[in-house]
Amino acid sequence: MGLSVVILAAGEGKRMHSGLPKCLHRLAGKPLLEHVVRAANFLKPENITVIYGHEGEKLKDSMPKLSVDWVEQSKQLGTGHAVMQALPTLDPNNRVLILYGDVPLITPETLEKLISKTNEESIGWLTAFPKDPSGLGRILRDEDGNPKAIIEEKDATEEQKKLDEINTGICLIPAKYLQQWLPTLKNKNSQKEYYLTDIFSIAVENGINITTVSALSNTEILGINDNQQLAKLERIWQKQTAERLMSQGLTLLDPMRFDIRGYLKFGSDVTIDINVVIEGEVRVGSNCTIEQNVLLRNVTIGNNVTIRANSVLEEAIVGDNCEVGPFARLRPGAELKTKAKVGNFVEIKKSTIGEGSKVNHLSYIGDTEMGKHVNVGAGTITCNYDGLNKFKTEIGDEVFIGSNACLIAPVKIGNKATIGASSAVTRDVPASKLTIARVKQETKENWIRPVDRQCDVD
Ligand code: UD1
Ligand code: CA
Repeated sequence: MGLSVVILAAGEGKRMHSGLPKCLHRLAGKPLLEHVVRAANFLKPENITVIYGHEGEKLKDSMPKLSVDWVEQSKQLGTGHAVMQALPTLDPNNRVLILYGDVPLITPETLEKLISKTNEESIGWLTAFPKDPSGLGRILRDEDGNPKAIIEEKDATEEQKKLDEINTGICLIPAKYLQQWLPTLKNKNSQKEYYLTDIFSIAVENGINITTVSALSNTEILGINDNQQLAKLERIWQKQTAERLMSQGLTLLDPMRFDIRGYLKFGSDVTIDINVVIEGEVRVGSNCTIEQNVLLRNVTIGNNVTIRANSVLEEAIVGDNCEVGPFARLRPGAELKTKAKVGNFVEIKKSTIGEGSKVNHLSYIGDTEMGKHVNVGAGTITCNYDGLNKFKTEIGDEVFIGSNACLIAPVKIGNKATIGASSAVTRDVPASKLTIARVKQETKENWIRPVDRQCDVD
């Protein structure tokens, strides 16, 4: 039997108090729905249908790359009604796995367990025994322990509320039963909704076997209804991810103060200090240290590199044996070749810093091609922008630039040139010579201070 997946994501998410559909809120930097689709994809289903509704097309339009079928539920009349909208997209010979867009931690392992334990003609239902079952549907069983029905808390008696086995909502049902039974659902309950959970007792009445399967952990079945739950699940996800990375050899000085919102590939002996945030795709070589409060967003870092505290690196490449920071900013297109050094309060954008070159203090280097073993003095700025256009600066090998120079682009500096401190360089600079472009120092011999002049009058 083939497998189809239906993900319910049409609910309003009122308690988020947000204009964003609930499933677009982010966990570990990715929309909740993407987490669920990712878990579903591990099962290699024939198709995935997402039921969307509230806030109309926002959800669908925000994720154009997601390869799913989108089906609208224009009025949210309950979970049973939501699944019914998917019926036209389902192969009647398939089994249908029903997932929830706001239950993002669900693992492929638990779903595989549900699928493998459930006979093809039976219904599989994922249940759990959480510490606090309040608010959730309870599984009712007969005297022999056979499952009988699901009762929503809002419809439950005090006695039934004491039951500790809950409905996670996740279930596996042959499409033919859904086609037969969903149209017969009634909304005679406290919420006036068409409950998917009523399928449970209908199956029992029809003599169809229901296999209850428990989730591999109590955290993966947690749903998100408000910002507290979102933050709680974020911490669970981060903790699990940190533990996985540590088991692969990453040294995290405090796994509770490490956040990853993307993907990290790392070599051996990489140490990450507290409050480091990893976003997008980040690659770090071997023997690297990332100090406190660093943001790495889509960067590639070579071997033997130290990124010092409070640095921000985005879409940059850092070669082997480089040092960056503290307080450095590498913007998109920054590339540091082997042994380059970028120090404090230095911003580099769309520039190559050649092998062994140093920009150690208070500089802006933009749209620059810099050769090897260049020394850039403190406060040096490449003036790359005239208010309308951007221009390039080319700096040869072994150039020495004195402090506080302005290199007004477009400009080329020849190999081994030396530029005097505080020069405003407007024309190309020849190789191997000293160039100074600043007003000559002068002393006015006959000058008298105004205060002294006044004394003379008295
Ligand atoms: C549901 C279950 C409950 C279970 C709980 C687990 C039913 C009747 N109850 O309750 O037994 O313990 O989940 O979290 O199924 N949705 C739609 N369209 C709708 C209504 C809901 O797409 O018309 C989606 C929501 O976006 C959400 C999911 O279905 O992702 C669950 O809906 P919700 O209203 O939160 O159900 P619960 O009351 O939590
Ligand atoms: Ca819910």
